Amino acid sequence: MKSLRNSELDASVIDWPVHMQRALDLARHVITATPNPRVGCVLVKDNEVVGEGWHRGPGLPHAEVVALGQAGANAEGATAFVSLEPCAHQGRTGPCCEALQAAGVKQVVLPIVDPNPQVSGKGIAFLEQNGIEVFRLSDFAAAASSINPGFMRRMETGLPLVRLKLAMSLDGRTALANGESKWITGTGARSDVQLLRAGSSAVLTGIGTVLADDPQLNVRVEDLDISETQKLTNETNLAKQPLRVVLDSQLHTPDTSKLVNSQGRVIIFGNAGSVSRRKAPGDHVEMVAVDCPDGRVDLRSVLHSLATDFACNEILVEAGPTLSGAFLDAGLVDELIIYMAPKIFGADARPLFGSTGLQSLAEARQFTIEEVSVVGDDLKIILSPQVKN
Ligand SMILES: NC(=O)c1ccc[n+]([C@@H]2O[C@H](COP(=O)([O-])OP(=O)(O)OC[C@H]3O[C@@H](n4cnc5c(N)ncnc54)[C@H](OP(=O)(O)O)[C@@H]3O)[C@@H](O)[C@H]2O)c1
Repeated sequence: MKSLRNSELDASVIDWPVHMQRALDLARHVITATPNPRVGCVLVKDNEVVGEGWHRGPGLPHAEVVALGQAGANAEGATAFVSLEPCAHQGRTGPCCEALQAAGVKQVVLPIVDPNPQVSGKGIAFLEQNGIEVFRLSDFAAAASSINPGFMRRMETGLPLVRLKLAMSLDGRTALANGESKWITGTGARSDVQLLRAGSSAVLTGIGTVLADDPQLNVRVEDLDISETQKLTNETNLAKQPLRVVLDSQLHTPDTSKLVNSQGRVIIFGNAGSVSRRKAPGDHVEMVAVDCPDGRVDLRSVLHSLATDFACNEILVEAGPTLSGAFLDAGLVDELIIYMAPKIFGADARPLFGSTGLQSLAEARQFTIEEVSVVGDDLKIILSPQVKN
């Protein structure tokens, strides 16, 4: 495989970055393909796009196969631009490398090697062994990885990506002293959260929130602020709800809760004793025993289980101050998303995080602001935690 920077491309391939960008745009268009990565593919022959495709989710044709289907006989002699190394293994669908070879594709251009050990480098090796030239456009590597941050993280570390989302007032409060918290933010922010949920493999909360708010934590497609085209292209994956996960050491989640009684799979993590005593209230609810040092479920073990047993790439934590603080204190938050409503709740209202006891500002957890935007009437702030040396 030859690695090239955009500045190294000669006149004959000057439009390669345009096609690679299009393949990445197609992949980004996919809200989720969990547990698979979001992938886009563009087939080009004689400077004309002859096929395009993206992957809609497990068991469905991969992006390359969709694009080949569109191109038909025009795939012969074409160049394939794919946002991730084509797969070489038989999964729920056949190997894309073989499909590309069978269709007579002569070149494959990709930005990154697939970190999945079942694929990594094997797709490239197969293509090259079969006379197909493979090029890597290294300037697109970071953008391609950013389309699948959770998939990359799971393949590389065995843990999913964790986004912690919280809504707060201008004075950093999440509920009134009497517990009232609906709604802190406006409809725009709440619709934005729906999109975050839709893009996640799992939405995770604590038993405190289940008991206080009785949430469903599901995706309501009608509330998603996306175009009709995006709704149509994501029809299959949006029909499947993300896993709903509750951390509930003593298994106090009521059988009557909305979470348990709404459509979609629910996983409740608790201690082994409680799990052995409690009967799941339906086939869609699984009670999973996990390490509980200090009497509470161990967050790292939960994440490990979500990655290995449930193939979760991206986790959205929507919990109260106790569990949110615990995730932060354990250093397990990759992205913090705050929706800030322009309201004042006062000093007796409840805090954002339960953590206490700092003695100096030097001990304060520090974040980098990645993005700030106005969503409806509220402010959305995306932050990444700074790693202390
Ligand atoms: N503003 C927002 O964005 C937002 C979002 C969600 C909720 N809320 C509000 O938050 C309030 C509830 O907050 P909360 O703090 O009581 O509930 P929470 O953070 O949702 O859940 C806390 C519970 O999680 C369980 N848990 C399991 N493992 C844990 C661990 N390793 N570390 C910490 N906790 C663990 C604990 O119960 P066990 O020990 O029994 O397991 C703990 O009491 C409600 O008023 C709700 O409206 C606000």
